[in-house]
Amino acid sequence: MAELLSGWKRTHYCGAPTESDVGSEILLMGWAGSWRNLGSLIFIGLRDRSGVMQVVFDESKLDKDTYAKAESIRSEFVIAVKGTLVKRSEEMVNANMKTGAFELIANELKILSTAKTTPIYIEDDLNAQEQLRLKYRYLDLRRPCMQEMLRMRDKVTNITRRYFSENGFMDVETPILCKSTPEGARDYLVPSRVHPGNFYALPQSPQLFKQLLMISGCDRYMQIARCFRDEDLRADRQPEFTQIDLEMSFVDADDVMAVNEGFIQRLMKETLDVDVALPLRRITWQDAMDRFGSDKPDTRFGLELVDVSEIVKDCGFGVFTGAIENGGSVRAINAEGALSRITRKKIDELVEFVKIYKAKGLAWLSMKEDGIQCSFAKFMTDEQMQAIIEKTNAKVGDIVFFVADKNSVVYAALGALRLELAKRLELIDNSRFDVLWVTEFPLLEYDEEENRYVAMHHPFTSPMDEDIQYLETEPGRVRAKAYDMVMNGNEIGGGSVRIHSAELQERMFKAIGFDKESAWRQFGYFMEAFQYGTPPHGGLAYGLDRLVMLITGASSIRDVIAFPKVQNASCLMSEAPNTVDEKQLKELSIKVDM
Ligand code: AMO
Ligand code: AMP
Repeated sequence: MAELLSGWKRTHYCGAPTESDVGSEILLMGWAGSWRNLGSLIFIGLRDRSGVMQVVFDESKLDKDTYAKAESIRSEFVIAVKGTLVKRSEEMVNANMKTGAFELIANELKILSTAKTTPIYIEDDLNAQEQLRLKYRYLDLRRPCMQEMLRMRDKVTNITRRYFSENGFMDVETPILCKSTPEGARDYLVPSRVHPGNFYALPQSPQLFKQLLMISGCDRYMQIARCFRDEDLRADRQPEFTQIDLEMSFVDADDVMAVNEGFIQRLMKETLDVDVALPLRRITWQDAMDRFGSDKPDTRFGLELVDVSEIVKDCGFGVFTGAIENGGSVRAINAEGALSRITRKKIDELVEFVKIYKAKGLAWLSMKEDGIQCSFAKFMTDEQMQAIIEKTNAKVGDIVFFVADKNSVVYAALGALRLELAKRLELIDNSRFDVLWVTEFPLLEYDEEENRYVAMHHPFTSPMDEDIQYLETEPGRVRAKAYDMVMNGNEIGGGSVRIHSAELQERMFKAIGFDKESAWRQFGYFMEAFQYGTPPHGGLAYGLDRLVMLITGASSIRDVIAFPKVQNASCLMSEAPNTVDEKQLKELSIKVDM
């Protein structure tokens, strides 16, 4: 029974009227939120994206029809109200509401749309299951906190465009229907109707196109680009996500980092009024692993790793000596003051916790008032024990945890334990934003499954000049001109200086197991481009969703994407992916075999 607007024009958003509008007739439109019927008075909280205005329908001031219509209003009806803005009496002022000093005394009403009872309440502290929220995402997005999120995201993209435009970056769009670009994840494929049996790949990132734009002479490119990766989803990963993607010509790593430091400083200032001090701290990948067990360290708290291998290499504990003999290490974390917070039973939980990261166990040492309790005491001499205590700086009240294994497992297990301990010991200051660069990543990492080296970042990243000589002889030793920007333990962006000679690019492909022929088959157009004059270039891409997640304090990127997918990569609202008509499949020459 929607009525036409018939000439009614909104004069204000619901949250917009101010002191100067008091006494005037204004016209608001929006959704009826909370309503109360007190017999001859009806109060309705009229909501739109800007806020809520309390509307009063007074039976004594309205004609019968209008009042009857007002009585029929239920939650989430869409209505238009003409009325007079008045000040609330002193005792009725609601200080929690932007418009809490005013109310609108209705004179005329139109009901523009009725509404069924909504499956979720439209309020901020909602208890509904996320599944239900996502099925009815359009209702979920009506909630003020979600509107705020959308607004913040919009603000971030606006600041981004302004900053990069002011710094000479050109916004260029790159294709979505592409040839596969290896970025480490699986591709999403789109079948071609015109070329039966051929597929486009959706871009995992615009990497090759932005490099080609440098060869084109674009000099500085940026794009807010949608990327697609068919990988296992987590709280900070979606199958389609958005990058702030950029590339620059005639630069080295410091130039790219400087532009991006300016960006993050501006972004944090203009969104949260947080001051980021420049230049950002830099830490090499090796130091990050040794100190924090992670290439995206959260540096808002201590609990740093300590290598005790030297001390225990000749002890009687086979777990320790075995790990060291196999090229691994024994490292520790001193959880200062943990004794009063972490009971024996909780230590057992932590032993289970590190097993998720493939550690075989977790040894510990408790610095009790009345002496030391230690899970491996019997294998240690007094001197060794004393040396451990000194090296880990353990004092009464502390618990020291140890993992012995190959280095990758030690880092992963202690890196995760460090975060877990910080949570349990409440060491994280959530109002703090620690931003830093991690540099000098290994160029290659060994993939045990594929039995070959793979690019840690991507195959277009340049080795460090002094390490190029080892590309063929000791590939694991080569460091890359790559840098990640890390905020509070999240990798918010990553980039590198690129290889810009065809010859080095061929050596790189060879190092990751592509012979010349297969490299040319896959990337021929790219390698050919290198032969026509390539400027030295480099760039970076931020995960926009992750940035907005951190800025809004959300716990998942699902919360900062208007229409996200769930764990199994489906959309609960539209039910994508889904089957298609036989006819569509036929046109694409596709037979489904399952
Ligand atoms: P990279 O693969 O490191 O680099 O990606 C850049 C940033 O994108 C974000 N990100 C994601 N966000 C949400 N969901 C995902 N599945 C996801 N995957 C990555 C991260 C990451 O830091 N072409 C290069 C960049 C370059 O070299 O210039 C690239 O894509 O925040
Ligand atoms: P076990 O010899 O298996 O009884 O282990 C003795 C102690 O060492 C227990 O506290 C185990 O949790 C711990 N432990 C076992 N394997 C490891 C390991 N790889 N690293 C650290 N501690 C371990």
